[in-house]
Amino acid sequence: MCGIVGYVGEKQALEVVVAGLRRLEYRGYDSAGVAVIADGELQTRKRAGKLINLEDLLGEDPLPQSTNGIGHTRWATHGAPNDVNAHPHISSDGRVAVIHNGIIENFSELRAELEATGIAMMSETDSEVAAHLVAVELAVDPDDLVGAVQRVCQRLTGAFTLVISHADHPDMVVGARRNSPLVVGVGKGENFLASDVAAFIAHTREAIELGQDQIVILRSERVDVTDFYGNPAEVNPYTVTWDASAAEKGGYDLFMLKEIAEQPKAVADTLLGRVDGAGRLLLDSITLSDEELRSIDKIVIIACGTAYHSGMIAKYAIEHWTRVPTEVELASEFRYRDPILSPRTLVIAISQSGETMDTLMAMRHAREQGSKVLAICNTQGSTIPRESDAAVYTHAGPEIAVASTKAFLTQVVACYLVALYLAQVRGDRNPEEIRAIADDLVNMPSKIDLMLDTTEGVRGIAREFANSTSVLFIGRHVGFPVALEGALKLKELAYMHAEGFAAGELKHGPIALLEDGMPVVVIVPSPRGRDVIHEKIISNILEVRARGARTIVIAEEGDEIVTPYADWIIRTPECPSLFQPLLATVPLQVFACELATTKGHDVDQPRNLAKSVTVE
Ligand code: M6R
Repeated sequence: MCGIVGYVGEKQALEVVVAGLRRLEYRGYDSAGVAVIADGELQTRKRAGKLINLEDLLGEDPLPQSTNGIGHTRWATHGAPNDVNAHPHISSDGRVAVIHNGIIENFSELRAELEATGIAMMSETDSEVAAHLVAVELAVDPDDLVGAVQRVCQRLTGAFTLVISHADHPDMVVGARRNSPLVVGVGKGENFLASDVAAFIAHTREAIELGQDQIVILRSERVDVTDFYGNPAEVNPYTVTWDASAAEKGGYDLFMLKEIAEQPKAVADTLLGRVDGAGRLLLDSITLSDEELRSIDKIVIIACGTAYHSGMIAKYAIEHWTRVPTEVELASEFRYRDPILSPRTLVIAISQSGETMDTLMAMRHAREQGSKVLAICNTQGSTIPRESDAAVYTHAGPEIAVASTKAFLTQVVACYLVALYLAQVRGDRNPEEIRAIADDLVNMPSKIDLMLDTTEGVRGIAREFANSTSVLFIGRHVGFPVALEGALKLKELAYMHAEGFAAGELKHGPIALLEDGMPVVVIVPSPRGRDVIHEKIISNILEVRARGARTIVIAEEGDEIVTPYADWIIRTPECPSLFQPLLATVPLQVFACELATTKGHDVDQPRNLAKSVTVE
């Protein structure tokens, strides 16, 4: 949700900033813009649409060389995605440039105040007020840019990352953050600001996490961090564990295809070091005491989108292995229904980015009620794990495609690990049982690898449905969240009507949607599991076929009972029922990716979306 880059150093700022924006474009692609300072003047270029439009503009109308630059890719909130609303926004005197991510909630009153003094707004954005406010505050002391930014931040409400440059201060870029991401990249003779380390990973792996309500003053030789009142702040430096190649396509046409292919490794990396030779779970990062874990009487999982589906799968595993009642809730709904929370409730917040505002606000609410929060997250240094009582990181590496793939599988694995760890600490399962389950889990990466062999076949099936208007997905037990995830992938990538249902629910209404020839994807549970579920889904397949549906069936190898009822069949290797989502989801990702490609859509950057949703 908006990508931000700032640079001060010896290199050509424009090149560094544009290259950084290229890596952050997945965060928003409604418009892009840059500003540099050269010869005491601020110069900007901005253009609606993808970054390529800005690059074309820079080709036609180049900017001068500079050692100070800022840049922005936008996901529009206030104001249409046009040239004028693109960032940077400039103060009336042309000296201050501001880029912003988030929503300034009191912008209307600030805008009215500025207009009352005769300042004319150029754009419809909430962001522009920040540029004018900095200019107004600078009138107090034109040399004190930092003081001006501090005073402006004190007045803003809502969520904001601001990055500011000023024509009279070519030696610095000033950043500020509240409820919105910003990290510092520490180089030699150069320093960086960005929404995400991907922007500067080609230059440095040394980073600094910024805390809530902090201001950072970036110069080529130093980085200073204060609070909004100028008091020095503590910072948390860290080294990024992946390198620039992890954020490249690496020979694949699409990031999504690369990320699907990386899933066996991502899952293996997430398991690495977390199960010892004796099948004991090692999760040191769960810093909650055994006593606290034993006292838990309820678990609430909060997440959004794909992460929510991983939480739905977690519920089955947690309740089965620990018998602790577990609820799963959309983070965006959670705090508005007055949830029942206590110090004995463990809240698990799942988020790839660690910055999803709905999830962040929900977990803050839970902590205010005295509950402990455990984050499952893929992004080191992000806000959700930082504000949690404990964190378990997934090790999926950077996920660039907007549609989540490897992050999902690793979230599911992290949930299994947490569930087993709870069972171990609380004594809900004996060590032999835990060891057997952990052994099966450790074998899953090689089975996921086998699923990649189905890719070509699945692509062929997908192309059959390029002209379909609607696709239904049905499943039972853990197959139900898989069905939801398959439908979400298809909606966000192929822009098709797609819905996931618990297979037993079809007859309660949705079956009326069925038309002759409509594709129905069925996630079939193993016949080796609970017979009754397998039998029931066979009945559900018969119901949809009786009404003309064409069935694409995902079923375990050796399940011949289902074969006569499948128009197409995709096989999964044998595995315990609870782990089936790790296999069955893979062909659904490929299915959506191929349909979107066939329809000519931008798979990595679907319309209207952004990777990290930092507004509520
Ligand atoms: O970063 P998060 O995991 O918190 O993101 C949550 C959702 O926005 C995300 O999973 C979204 O649904 C995916 N783009 C779907 O593929």
